Amino acid sequence: MRDGSKVNSTTEKTLTVVRTRVALQQQVRAWKAAGETVGFVPTMGALHAGHISLVEKAKENVSRTITSIFVNPTQFAPGEDFETYPRREEDDLALLTAAGCDLVYLPTVAEMYPDGSVTDVRVNGMSDLLDGIYRPHFFYGVATVVARLFLHVQPDVAVFGEKDYQQLQIIRRMARDLGFPIRIIGGETKRDADGLAQSSRNLYLSADERRTAGAMFAALHRASVRLALGGLPGDVRAEAEAHLRRAGFRSVDYVALVDPATLLALPDDAPIIPKSEARLLGAAWLGRTRLIDNISVMR
Ligand code: PAF
Repeated sequence: MRDGSKVNSTTEKTLTVVRTRVALQQQVRAWKAAGETVGFVPTMGALHAGHISLVEKAKENVSRTITSIFVNPTQFAPGEDFETYPRREEDDLALLTAAGCDLVYLPTVAEMYPDGSVTDVRVNGMSDLLDGIYRPHFFYGVATVVARLFLHVQPDVAVFGEKDYQQLQIIRRMARDLGFPIRIIGGETKRDADGLAQSSRNLYLSADERRTAGAMFAALHRASVRLALGGLPGDVRAEAEAHLRRAGFRSVDYVALVDPATLLALPDDAPIIPKSEARLLGAAWLGRTRLIDNISVMR
């Protein structure tokens, strides 16, 4: 589909498809000149109900909604799944049309990273914890592409899923540090009936692995209840890791209890302070697929 082309929806809205920053900014400028507000949902495509709920969240807060679809090479390390990451443009456009999204931005790699581009964004510290230990390149690639997307789109509001909780907190920190005039909103995780957090990478799971995958949420949920009742974080984390291994996860990268804003680990040997919030995050391998999830813990 060409720049600026429209996809009809059954509702009165049409989805405008743009592939260049120039065409995107022309439309955003026109909307803003007409007094409209713009919400933005960045994605890598292979959209599912979780993404659509973020589009809906954006629509609650603004008059125009833009989604980007860009499989960002800088957040994949060599040997990761950049080449095989699911790409389903036609299905994605149909879902966005049905959701009443106004515009989808589908930039090329050259549009996002012009030839000779050498500028990165690094949110130091927070990017090196948790997933950053196992995927050291990852949050630098994410912060860099999201900063570039923010500059291309210039939204008033941007919505990121809580499913990627560390990413959400890093983006909040980046927006604050760099003074982006953008309100960052977290969207609740969408789950399948067994609790599995919806993710484009769930498509990689075999039927057997899919049956086991619900154990990630079950382990975190059980642990959150134990912590809310005053269990010691060290014991509860060890139990959750054992739960995952028993269920069939081949290895557990971490089950971590952290301060929700700083992502710094809370002590293992003291119950959570009453009336405070903590965040429990987990990452583990099911066959060749790495699943992550997280849950709020209130005591
Ligand atoms: O969460 C994602 O899909 C990606 O990390 C993002 C935020 C679109 C950046 O490429």
